[in-house]
Amino acid sequence: MILTFASSKGGVGKSTTCAAIAAAMAIEGSRVLLIDLDQNRTLDRWARRSPLDNLTVVPTDPQKFGGFFRDSEASGDFDHICIDLPGTREVTLFKALARSDLVIIPAQASEPDLREALVVVGDIRDVGDTTGRKIPYRLLLTKIFPLRTRVTTYAYDELERHGLPLFRTALVERSAYREMFLNGRPPTVTEPEKGAGAEIAALLAEIRAIAAEPAALRKAG
Ligand SMILES: Nc1ncnc2c1ncn2[C@@H]1O[C@H](COP(=O)(O)OP(=O)(O)OP(=O)(O)O)[C@@H](O)[C@H]1O
Ligand SMILES: [Mg+2]
Repeated sequence: MILTFASSKGGVGKSTTCAAIAAAMAIEGSRVLLIDLDQNRTLDRWARRSPLDNLTVVPTDPQKFGGFFRDSEASGDFDHICIDLPGTREVTLFKALARSDLVIIPAQASEPDLREALVVVGDIRDVGDTTGRKIPYRLLLTKIFPLRTRVTTYAYDELERHGLPLFRTALVERSAYREMFLNGRPPTVTEPEKGAGAEIAALLAEIRAIAAEPAALRKAG
């Protein structure tokens, strides 16, 4: 699978979700390449703290992304490629979208985040039109409160109003996600089968189900 984590809004949980999903797949035994396109190199630093067998994290210069991606895919060395994008709208966003089996758009349950998510959805549709291929995508609510608040209800209502596809799994605001960048350990290791670990496992199951759908049945794109 080629998974892209995208949002033109910063701080919504792209790198966190990308790292947690990539780590979960690697721990299960898949060979995973994580392409870190964010110049802050968050995920490169994360991977150095607590390296995992099967997970290769490569900070990549945006200008070299196309060639690097092609070579990595052709090498046959990886079962899955995860792409972590910066929180800006730049040319690598469009290049990554064009190559994705699924685009994951993290957003907090707030008006500005949902507005930015809509911008990415517009970009996905444009790239889909240009390449003649439906690019599946899903919104992922992140950092939500454990109990449903007025804000979360607003977010769900807005998403439904715009007909935007959403993961059933949402990521609750939890310290295990923050600790991940401090000690390098992914949620499936720190909280296996509960809390953040259970959320990531559920999200990964959804991702796999969507990526396995025949293109004709996919709703989004
Ligand atoms: N579910 C969560 N619970 C608690 N903290 C979280 C959660 N998701 C993300 N965070 C924290 O929020 C901050 C921003 O997350 P992250 O770096 O993943 O966002 P981003 O979208 O990649 O940001 P940028 O656009 O700057 O790259 C980090 O400190 C991270 O630890
Ligand atoms: Mg990031």
